[in-house]
Amino acid sequence: MTQRVLTGITTTGTLHLGNYVGAIRPAIAASLEAGVESFFFMADYHALIKCDDPARIARSRLEIAATWLAAGLDTDRVTFYRQSDIPEIPELTWLLTCVTSKGQMNRAHAYKGAVDANVAANEDADAGITMGLFSYPILMAADILMFNAHRVPVGRDQVQHIEMARDVAQRFNHLFGQGHDFFVLPEAAVEADMALLPGLDGRKMSKSYDNAIPLFEGGSAGLQEAIARIVTDSKLPGEPKDPEGQALVTIYDAFASPAQRQDFRAALRAGLAWGEAKKQLFELVEAQIGPLRARYAELMAHPDHIEAILQTGAAKARALAAPLLAELRQAVGLRSFSTAAVIAVQAKSAKATLPLFKQYREADGRFYFKLNAADGSLLLQSQGLDSGRDAGQWVARLKREGAAALGEAPVQRAEGITAADVEAALAELKQASEG
Ligand code: TRP
Repeated sequence: MTQRVLTGITTTGTLHLGNYVGAIRPAIAASLEAGVESFFFMADYHALIKCDDPARIARSRLEIAATWLAAGLDTDRVTFYRQSDIPEIPELTWLLTCVTSKGQMNRAHAYKGAVDANVAANEDADAGITMGLFSYPILMAADILMFNAHRVPVGRDQVQHIEMARDVAQRFNHLFGQGHDFFVLPEAAVEADMALLPGLDGRKMSKSYDNAIPLFEGGSAGLQEAIARIVTDSKLPGEPKDPEGQALVTIYDAFASPAQRQDFRAALRAGLAWGEAKKQLFELVEAQIGPLRARYAELMAHPDHIEAILQTGAAKARALAAPLLAELRQAVGLRSFSTAAVIAVQAKSAKATLPLFKQYREADGRFYFKLNAADGSLLLQSQGLDSGRDAGQWVARLKREGAAALGEAPVQRAEGITAADVEAALAELKQASEG
């Protein structure tokens, strides 16, 4: 079965080298694997939670779209779209919101972090906190569940959100599925190097630490200038240097082949000057990023072209989202009043209440099965059997052969139940499984 992989990028800022190495590059590589169906999107509804500057939102989503395309995303292969082009996502968000417990959202890291900061600052606990921030994980769950993604590549800080998406999926399935699962339970995929590219000061590269190396912004000169600011120790040229734990070396590794990594370390141990090491790092990164930057500039000069690509992506995504959402609306009771539609729903729910075999184990350690009528009343009761397998085989045979197997089956009719009752129930089951 194909694995669906889905990830989104919040469109609030400009991308840095850490986003490229930690998210974009591995996502594009994974999208080329056989048996993988990828969904990548601009999380622009999420962006509104963090940013109320329309110009910045507009610019960022264009830049991020252009970045993915420049990095080599094959939009024939993957489904690439803006979250805000899929109206089914906010609609699903509401359905999920109605089955999400507030207590669980209280424990979401982003919200809790904001509350803790307020409390520490002697502010009202919820000062400056919007419902958008509070409900952030539910919107994210809708992003994921809308497309039944199996795998969600994210940074470590997002793992809790994936767990919340699983919980809400499970709850929805349980409440409305009648044994049918609408939603796949997604798994977080935290890549080893994801989000771990260090910034100029050695801490995780992040805009909020102001230690980021821009991906395209500032061009080749900007890249060189940022690399020059990477913090190193103060060993002089010619002095042996310990490469381990140096941000510069870790960034080098992210772009180097195994042989290059070895050579670079050896050169540092032999006394390579930090200035020279930075020059080598710049050349290595520029050789890979330079061509992407050129494609990026070309794309940014033709926003209509990007718009067309995203419209195609939205149509592809909605072709999947709309039918699932229609099913979900039915399931929760948002149904058409037209007679034909009502009859179809009745037929479906009648089917959902067929006679039912149940297998179980009693305190005596033996295995049993029974057949209940659609209304739950007992029709047939088995004797105790030695194994669950025996019980399973009898159930299978009764389902398959119907009343013909009754003579041999180790079962007894419940009080007041006639042979005709049992035969009718078995025939009904058989017919349902055949039709
Ligand atoms: N919250 C994610 C982040 O900030 C972005 C995001 C939104 C996302 N929806 C998603 C990631 C769904 C994966 C799946 O990084």
